[in-house]
Amino acid sequence: MEKETTRSNFTGKIGFVLAAAGSAVGLGNIWRFPYLAAKYGGGIFLLVYIILAVTFGFALMTAEIAIGRKTGLSAIGAFKRLDKRFSFVGWLAAIVPAIILPYYSVIGGWVIKYLYAFVSGGAMDAAQDAYFGGFISSNAEPVFWFMLFIGATALIVLAGVEKGIEKVSKIMMPVLVVLSLVIAIYSVCLPGAIEGVKYYVLPDFSKFSATTVLAAMGQLFYSMSLAMGIMITYGSYMKKDVNLESSVTQIEIFDTGIAFLAGMMIIPAVFVFSGGTPEALGKGPSLMFVTLPKVFESMAGGTVIGIIFFLLVLFAALTSSISLMETVVSIVCDKAKIGRRLACLVVFVGSVLLGLLSTLGYGVWAEVKIIGMQFLDFFDFISNSVLMPIVALCTCVFVGYFLKPQAIVDEVEVSGKFKRKGIFTVVIKYLAPICIVLILISSVLDAFGVFKI
Ligand code: PHE
Repeated sequence: MEKETTRSNFTGKIGFVLAAAGSAVGLGNIWRFPYLAAKYGGGIFLLVYIILAVTFGFALMTAEIAIGRKTGLSAIGAFKRLDKRFSFVGWLAAIVPAIILPYYSVIGGWVIKYLYAFVSGGAMDAAQDAYFGGFISSNAEPVFWFMLFIGATALIVLAGVEKGIEKVSKIMMPVLVVLSLVIAIYSVCLPGAIEGVKYYVLPDFSKFSATTVLAAMGQLFYSMSLAMGIMITYGSYMKKDVNLESSVTQIEIFDTGIAFLAGMMIIPAVFVFSGGTPEALGKGPSLMFVTLPKVFESMAGGTVIGIIFFLLVLFAALTSSISLMETVVSIVCDKAKIGRRLACLVVFVGSVLLGLLSTLGYGVWAEVKIIGMQFLDFFDFISNSVLMPIVALCTCVFVGYFLKPQAIVDEVEVSGKFKRKGIFTVVIKYLAPICIVLILISSVLDAFGVFKI
């Protein structure tokens, strides 16, 4: 039997929901969501995203948590237990967090560095054009911040599910909501911010296209921490009497709510700063690490806002990296049959080594490229654009046609009535598989520059 006899648990619903929401709410919400929303037409992207969240996101998250709770195992063991032929899905799912954790922690390290810069009075410097580039291309400094971030993650995971993860989430997540509200309100009240707010919330249907849906869908998977075994692992720590359906609803509200607020913080402020153009929202890391410091610098009280902002990003990133590490640790425990402590150490050392590739990929190894990408971008591409859609697709096919949706429905109904059973079944069997194939094709073509979404 692979099931551990002494598997730890979340103490109750709040602990579970906050920890899962902690995983979901991360850099993806605060930095990726706003720039995607700005890029794909503001309000229309928001609308499409919300519709997808309550259908696709809901169905997949329910399936994953139910699989975890039903088997009491992390991804590899869970798929194997349910159907030997699908063990490979568990393996694929397990590889994703192992790839993401190191580079996510590198970015987490950058966040601590910026927080430190703002706290120590370096806000002016951080707003300079060359600051970010200079920092990431230096060799020792990013390594130091990366080690600090991943070290903190490891300590929390080492403390365990209840005493580490649940405790930290119960503190950080409410603080995160308050900090987000503070900055969003501040940003919306800036003179001239209303244009940005309008752009962000009013849907312009002429901007709707298939690419809006694809982009929103890709973001959704990433943001809800789906297709990487995380929700299976967290589900395996969930007690049978906790209502599964309403937990999923609450996690979704949390995740989408914080993404929405992040847009409210960033889009109006950048509009004001740039005189009303969405293009200034830029793309990729430059939004958070180059544009925003400039925006803060231009505002009254910008240093304080900058400190609050980077603190909230740090909390969001930490609760996500904890879930990544926990998932890998739990798999190593289950598979290698070693204790948590040793598993933590193994995962920590492995991640540090892999993370070094990503940090040094901007420094001494800047010339080394894999299919034209730097290490960090390559890890991001393989995990998010290739493996995650494959795992999501296999999960849908498995649940829809082999395990059968009824098995998930039964597990959900252990703890109450499954109200959205109908939507769940249609999405998992028909809609999700088709859309995921489209995402996979488009993201791979996009990466090779054949077709730009
Ligand atoms: N969901 C997190 C976010 O929005 C990202 C994440 C990805 C977290 C993978 C854990 C695992 O940033």
